[in-house]
Amino acid sequence: MKKNIIFFSGAGLSAESGISTFRDSGGLWEKYDISEVATPDAWIRNPDLVTDFYNQRRKQIITTFPNDAHRFIAELDNNFEITVITQNIDDLHERAGSRHVLHLHGNIRLAKSSGPNQEKKLYPIDGWELTKNDVCDDGYRLRPHVVWFGEEVPALNDAIPIIKSADFFIVIGTSLQVYPAAGLIHYAPSTATKVILDPNLDSFSIPSDFIKIKKKSTEAIVDLKKLLKID
Ligand SMILES: NC(=O)c1ccc[n+]([C@@H]2O[C@H](COP(=O)([O-])OP(=O)(O)OC[C@H]3O[C@@H](n4cnc5c(N)ncnc54)[C@H](O)[C@@H]3O)[C@@H](O)[C@H]2O)c1
Repeated sequence: MKKNIIFFSGAGLSAESGISTFRDSGGLWEKYDISEVATPDAWIRNPDLVTDFYNQRRKQIITTFPNDAHRFIAELDNNFEITVITQNIDDLHERAGSRHVLHLHGNIRLAKSSGPNQEKKLYPIDGWELTKNDVCDDGYRLRPHVVWFGEEVPALNDAIPIIKSADFFIVIGTSLQVYPAAGLIHYAPSTATKVILDPNLDSFSIPSDFIKIKKKSTEAIVDLKKLLKID
């Protein structure tokens, strides 16, 4: 039987594709105030500003490509049962070819209703721009399919049994500071081989049963191959 590998990825995995991370120096939130662009209140106050913020993110993401680490994860599908649980809102895992991707914080290439039935239907966004004239079947304005600060994470409960089934649990490119997503790492079973890779591992605390690889994700491919015993 194929072993289950669960990847838990964050913004650092897409950094080498040219997408800014969240908290690194030079990261996105040094330039923007979260409360102005990524909260339900921000949407109520100024939906045009919020829409534009995500339009600019989408415009950039469309021009980027999966890097070697995204591709390495996708290629493992041939030898293992792979599920990617990502905090990223980009679609680089999918574009690399990964088949089972659970987006905890949404997918910026999709939109949803800003009314009460947000999770009912998702709308692909053609190109980079969502406008004030884009409305949902229920008549509400479309908003990006992104989980904002202060909102529930609907996919959280789907992620827990997946993580519990891990033979290998591999955490890549997340500072583990955004909750409740970060708390998911504690669901990995004690029998799993747990790995975390990040070039700045010294800056945050990690449970002692994790193998630590202090490297960028593309540089750590060689270490992961060794660990998974593949050529
Ligand atoms: N690409 C995206 O979709 C994107 C980008 C920015 C922010 N976000 C959102 O912001 C939140 C940020 O939390 P987070 O923990 O994912 O990101 P974060 O910015 O808090 O942490 C990124 C981590 O990646 C590490 N890192 C930097 N370069 C790396 C590399 N080349 N290889 C491996 N690791 C590297 C950093 O040291 C840091 O610990 C997420 O919820 C996500 O939805 C998403």
